[in-house]
Amino acid sequence: MRICLKGGRVFDPERSLDGQADLLIKKDRIEAIAPQIKTDDALIIDLAGKMVLPGFIDLHVHLREPGFEDKETIASGTAAAVAGGITAVAAMPNTKPPPDNPAAIRFIEEKAAAAGFCRVYPIGTLSHQRKGGKAADLASLYEAGVRAFSDDGAPVANSRLFKEILQELARYPDAVAIAHSEELPLSAGGLLHEGAVSRRLGLPAVPAAAETIGVARDILLAAATGARLHLAHLSTAGSVELLAWARERGLPVTAEVTPHHLLLTDEEILRSGALAKVNPPLRTEDDCRVLQEALRTGLIDIIATDHAPHRLSEKEAGLEEAPCGIAGLETAVPLLLTGLVNRGKLSLADLVRVYSSRPAELLGLPGGSLQPGAKADIAVLDLEAAGKIDPQSFYSRAKHSPFAGCSYLGGPVMTIVEGKIKMEQGIVYGANR
Ligand code: DOR
Repeated sequence: MRICLKGGRVFDPERSLDGQADLLIKKDRIEAIAPQIKTDDALIIDLAGKMVLPGFIDLHVHLREPGFEDKETIASGTAAAVAGGITAVAAMPNTKPPPDNPAAIRFIEEKAAAAGFCRVYPIGTLSHQRKGGKAADLASLYEAGVRAFSDDGAPVANSRLFKEILQELARYPDAVAIAHSEELPLSAGGLLHEGAVSRRLGLPAVPAAAETIGVARDILLAAATGARLHLAHLSTAGSVELLAWARERGLPVTAEVTPHHLLLTDEEILRSGALAKVNPPLRTEDDCRVLQEALRTGLIDIIATDHAPHRLSEKEAGLEEAPCGIAGLETAVPLLLTGLVNRGKLSLADLVRVYSSRPAELLGLPGGSLQPGAKADIAVLDLEAAGKIDPQSFYSRAKHSPFAGCSYLGGPVMTIVEGKIKMEQGIVYGANR
């Protein structure tokens, strides 16, 4: 049966589409978009007053399986994704064991297909077993279809090894190294950003330089090798300056920023404690402003959540013991609409660019536009939907967030992946909360 999305505001900046129209889906594809589509054999869904956009694509997500199923599974994480309007994710490899071989990649792909919520693109490790001692078998991972490689959660600390790895990746023009840029001796033991709040609390902290030194090193190694480099979760104004330096020289360096680094500061630790403990740490208002502006201008390419679920009991173990991470898949779109779009800091077209089209482009993925013939990966938004973030309603196993209780205006009300309705009015079909 075909599906006809009727009367929504169809919005696709890539194709300069913005107006009331019908969108017809046949099997897994968009068949047509037109002001009025007449069909007698289609399921009609009335979307008057709603927005129809390309589905969101999140290139930085921790699904935790295999090894940490108490925190998240591929099924629960991908259910959380479609609950949030997200139709594809790239899964970070800090699992146990980490995916440093084709069989481990297949495991993730099979689990994701069996769960059947959104598409999952496994990210392979840069180093063997993600231990930073020697390179992973990059050629066999590439053969298995992997195009993004990372040791995220940690950098490849040994610069000589990272250079060798980048040299090898440079042979594959469509492969990208995703850098978790961090100078470990500077960040070791730090619980939050080094600044006014850490000084007030007298706690060990992570200076901005722990990131900027890492970013500088990673950019210089990318320049030396010609490899494509993508900088994960930038948090400081200094990193943005270094990114601009790389771009001015035409280096193939791209970057992402998370919703929490855009919207929260180190002050959040005072309110939310360990729920706001994250790596890199939340920084200052100046950093937020610079990150927001860099995103708007396209210097920072994409938004990615760094969805990093942990058990509540782990987060309740105190600031020192608690692991770093915020579950972001189900809050990203409402928070970005509320905190950036509604305040005029990012247009809706920018949001589609940084959280759909550009992510698709970076990894050469389907999606990112509503082109007839393309896969029907669609997010429907209600810009009038108002509420408060309620982690108890998350499909993620991590039912906590520093954003709990925050008011939002605007959010996803339907997610369609490959022509199938996966989420409607907050309910994910086939998933349990
Ligand atoms: O806060 C974080 N959590 N940052 C990372 O780099 C890793 C992630 C995790 O895996 O928990």
